[in-house]
Amino acid sequence: MHPGSPTEPRNDTYHVITVCLGNICRSPMAESVLRAEIDRAGLAELVDVDSAGTGDWHVGGDADHRAQATLRDNGYSLDHQAKQFNPAWFEERDLILVMDANNLSTLRGWAKRVGVDDAHVRLLRSFDPAADHHEVPDPYYGGMRGFQDTLEMIEAAARGVVAHIELELQARRTSQPPN
Ligand code: 4NP
Repeated sequence: MHPGSPTEPRNDTYHVITVCLGNICRSPMAESVLRAEIDRAGLAELVDVDSAGTGDWHVGGDADHRAQATLRDNGYSLDHQAKQFNPAWFEERDLILVMDANNLSTLRGWAKRVGVDDAHVRLLRSFDPAADHHEVPDPYYGGMRGFQDTLEMIEAAARGVVAHIELELQARRTSQPPN
């Protein structure tokens, strides 16, 4: 039986991953907020979200306690174990959302090295039409206020991300032949 035959449902899950440097502050926060926004849009069955870092220092560890507190205080949940981005995921993720220019440059370099397309690697804040610039600055070396600012930047972009995913899902549906 081949995938897509009438008796086997296609694996149509849309995979999105958020990426920062350490995978303990910004990208786990973005993962949690995006998942909540996807749930609210009724897309939980169709869209999978995870997160990763370009660095490996925190692999296997929890999210930063300030990120956890900020999420909790704002009504979000997160069950997190940090991981490093694996270049195999360029082809396994439909949308790769990076936090800053450094993450973007790292992933573009890796994509070039492994010879894969990187057009789906995008700055998260480019999905916020009101954003005055397109980076989510690293809050790691600052205080709690920076984490709240981070959350608000992510929330503002998450709505645009979900609108983009909805369009991509719609485009997939119209390009697929009926079963
Ligand atoms: P993140 O923040 O990239 O938002 O997770 C950082 C966390 C840890 C480090 C740097 C940034 N670090 O150097 O350990």
